[in-house]
Amino acid sequence: MKYFLTTAIDYTNGDPHIGHAYEKILGDVIGRYHRSFDGPTFFLTGVDQHGQKVQQAAQKTGVQPLEFAQRVTAKFLALWDKLRIQKDGWAATTDPRHKQTVQKVLQSLYDKGELVKAKYSGFYSVRQEQFLTDKERNEAGEFGPEWGEVTFFEEENWYFPLAKHKEWLKNFVETHPDFVIPEFRRNELINAIERLSGNLCVSRPKERLSWGIEFPFDPDYVTYVWFDALLNYVTFAGYLAGEDPSLPNFNELWPCRAHIIGKDILVPAHGVYWPIMLHAMGFPDEQMPRLLVHGWWNVAGAKMSKSLGNVIDPDILADKYGADALRYYLMRDNVVGQDSDFSEERLVMRYNSDLANDLGNLVNRTINMCRRYRNGVIASPPWNDPDLTAIRSLANAVIERYRQAFERFEVHAAIEAAWELVAKANTLVEQKAPWKLAKDPAKSELLDAVLYTLAETVRLLALLVSPVIPAPSAKILEQLAAEQIRILQWGGLPSGHQLGEHSPIFPRIAA
Ligand code: MSP
Repeated sequence: MKYFLTTAIDYTNGDPHIGHAYEKILGDVIGRYHRSFDGPTFFLTGVDQHGQKVQQAAQKTGVQPLEFAQRVTAKFLALWDKLRIQKDGWAATTDPRHKQTVQKVLQSLYDKGELVKAKYSGFYSVRQEQFLTDKERNEAGEFGPEWGEVTFFEEENWYFPLAKHKEWLKNFVETHPDFVIPEFRRNELINAIERLSGNLCVSRPKERLSWGIEFPFDPDYVTYVWFDALLNYVTFAGYLAGEDPSLPNFNELWPCRAHIIGKDILVPAHGVYWPIMLHAMGFPDEQMPRLLVHGWWNVAGAKMSKSLGNVIDPDILADKYGADALRYYLMRDNVVGQDSDFSEERLVMRYNSDLANDLGNLVNRTINMCRRYRNGVIASPPWNDPDLTAIRSLANAVIERYRQAFERFEVHAAIEAAWELVAKANTLVEQKAPWKLAKDPAKSELLDAVLYTLAETVRLLALLVSPVIPAPSAKILEQLAAEQIRILQWGGLPSGHQLGEHSPIFPRIAA
């Protein structure tokens, strides 16, 4: 079984912002962790190209929806390359393979009697692309500004009876504490299920919205964008794909170990529609995916929005500071599940203090001293120095904590664990003062042991930071000539190992 994880697929009605970038980096970091230290991994991400939002954005620009979606998709793809997102699959919802899966699923739900056609008259929110009921009215009895433009009409559509599966979903969520991480989001979902009633409208008449996947048994309709978008997770994992060699083997991937999504799309899309869709499609309980719900990045406490003019562009930041500095900041200054405040000053501060100072200095000093005192050749004599033994024990404990943190998706805690080792190793340099040992021939073995301990610690640290800052990590391993020594356990560097050339890796950013 491969470790399968996904992120949400991003709307192609506008340019990528820091929230999109954070989520893809989080997915990439978790994916890289599993690929490096666990086993075969498949990370799927992509773009949501259909629906009213895209059609409207295209209209404003005066181009066809497909062309518009493709232009925006190209921006996302270029940004993911720049940010070193290592994706194994690319879910673009206009892909003909996706259309085929969506149509097969609709047909099979129809054949099972899970879709019904009915007439509805009422209010509709264009922004949220959903029908509104009295539940959506605010205290003043109105549809608040969050719904954008609200129109009244009567329409015949296809409905998916959600309420029929309410008891199953309630029971499933209550008996599977792991279904939603973190815990408090699961409670939110349970409350939402209590309020669940009615049917989900899964079609839109073409006369109103043409930009979507056509209904296979009623060509006057296209598929509701969320129904289409959620199915990306199975299409691009190879579901119903037969022998198509361009898609993975579904049985090797499913169930998904983490759908990484923002808090705004847990209820109702991922927490209600998606499990009910899978259940109705015939997926048993043990084949349900898991949801990892992250918080939002705000700016000075406020939500990012075009109207406030506070939208943060990750492309500009990556050009200014480098992709790895941005990746490090987003992963270090956020507790997965909680909201964070974006601050460029903090990005610079984190980079200068954690990377340039703490880690950068340790790497510089270690490799420089090994070169100066031992021509870059490290030896590992037996030792019984308590300070060195303490570092070795700490390294093993840190690795354990790091692994546990990743299993709980707590990336910041994994980074914190690694930095405890950075700090201890920097202290060791001061304690042992290798420049003094080098002057005393009687301390030659101790000097060897200290240099070995530092070099091995730096090797382990390069591996520990590799999911978050892959490019600097690769440089450190290259300078240690340890690219091939990937074992995440003390003692990987053999005695007599020759280090490579050194050059500084984390130049300070002028504040
Ligand atoms: N297209 C839908 C998702 C379909 S998944 C089957 C969508 N797209 S989106 O572009 O609006 O959002 C994509 C992801 O980015 C979502 O998980 C969303 O929560 C996340 N974020 C959007 N703004 C964000 C922040 N400001 N901060 C962090 N993540 C945010 O929803």
